Amino acid sequence: MSNVILIGAQWGDEGKGKMIDLLARTSHYIVRFQGGNNAGHTVDIGSEKFILHHIPSGILHPRTKCVLGNGVVLDLEAFFDEIKMLSKRGVSVRGRLFVSERAHIIFPYHRLIDQLKEERKGGHKIGTTKKGIGPCYADKANRLGIRVCDLMNRRVFDERLERVLKEKNLILKKIFNHRPFSFNDMHRTYAKYRNRLAPYVRNTSLLLDQADRQKKHILFEGAQGTLLDVDHGTYPFVTSSNASAGGAIAGTGIDPSKITEVIGVVKAYTTRVGEGPFPTLFPPGLLRHIQERGEEFGATTGRPRRCGWFDALVARHSVLVNGLKKMAVMKLDVLDELPKIKIGVAYRLRGKRYNSFPADSEVLEHAEPVYEEWPGWQKPTSSIRRWRDLPIQARRYLKRLEVLMGVPISVVSVGSKRSQTISVDGSLV
Ligand code: IMP
Repeated sequence: MSNVILIGAQWGDEGKGKMIDLLARTSHYIVRFQGGNNAGHTVDIGSEKFILHHIPSGILHPRTKCVLGNGVVLDLEAFFDEIKMLSKRGVSVRGRLFVSERAHIIFPYHRLIDQLKEERKGGHKIGTTKKGIGPCYADKANRLGIRVCDLMNRRVFDERLERVLKEKNLILKKIFNHRPFSFNDMHRTYAKYRNRLAPYVRNTSLLLDQADRQKKHILFEGAQGTLLDVDHGTYPFVTSSNASAGGAIAGTGIDPSKITEVIGVVKAYTTRVGEGPFPTLFPPGLLRHIQERGEEFGATTGRPRRCGWFDALVARHSVLVNGLKKMAVMKLDVLDELPKIKIGVAYRLRGKRYNSFPADSEVLEHAEPVYEEWPGWQKPTSSIRRWRDLPIQARRYLKRLEVLMGVPISVVSVGSKRSQTISVDGSLV
């Protein structure tokens, strides 16, 4: 029995989708515990590419069961669109997709307020995915949210929706000068969703406890990344949930003592989509090269991702706050052509050296990274399948990352396909 949490150890988009897909082979349950359809997990299977936003990528394995836990925020329109897309492509979710009755629902007013707020912020915007994630979590914390179980109870739902909509419409009118939402229209739409959602709704904490008692393997799939975590990330340029390992506990109700391992995923370099500090950002020429070679465009919004050198402070911070014991390093092949490769090992600002990741946004904004420089390998790696066949310079680079992170690398990925994977210690794949 193993209950493993898989966490993005940078700013998201580390390649968690591929890792989940690989680990799903030996997992009975795959569980999302935070975030919503702001996530974009890409899985490349043979000639087929799947991009999933809501439903765990483990759904592509016919025998796995997938769960959206209580910590997830659920956009029902996006959820049913995704089920439809999967069904058209021959993937059935019937009897193997479950949604927590305690999960909060993203409503159209959340999406609209997310967009309007970002527009008003001008130069101070966060660069959100505009999926309504922040406003939905804000309502949850503010005791104004509507949960799946509330939707399932018609009387409760009508009363809540009416009350909440009154407040939202007031905000829309007074602050944004925007037209209101109609209670009747929304009521009609969600009455249809109520019936469609009913077969998926469960007490998922109980479901997972039973699965654990039956010695099933459970994989907790983190979305976004640790540096986007609302507590541990680069606040305020973060998402609104706990994308770090602690989120898996609160966001599912699993007994914390049942977690057997927390695994991190990093890219061999760093990327970030949306606004916020990025100390090891590449200069423009290299940025374009890596964006193109690494296809660094957001899976959810299509925005180009900013790219930079591997930042050891970021990775170490993630190791610390997640208790990571192993790492998967993704997209090594994207660095194949570079003659020299840098690693950010510290920051410097006004004569002070920072060896651990600072919380102060001003330091992060202005700090200069201290770099180590390593020779590149300038050889293709995407067809390599064994550690010992990697160029010596690539192995040295990875070994240095291991030392700087303080955890062993278990997996190296050299391409998007399932087969383009090097198992370093045989413990994961
Ligand atoms: P939100 O989650 O839409 O509120 O966006 C907040 C920040 O998190 C923005 O910088 C987004 O670009 C970023 N973000 C949200 N989801 C993801 C993701 O899945 N990958 C990478 N960045 C994300």
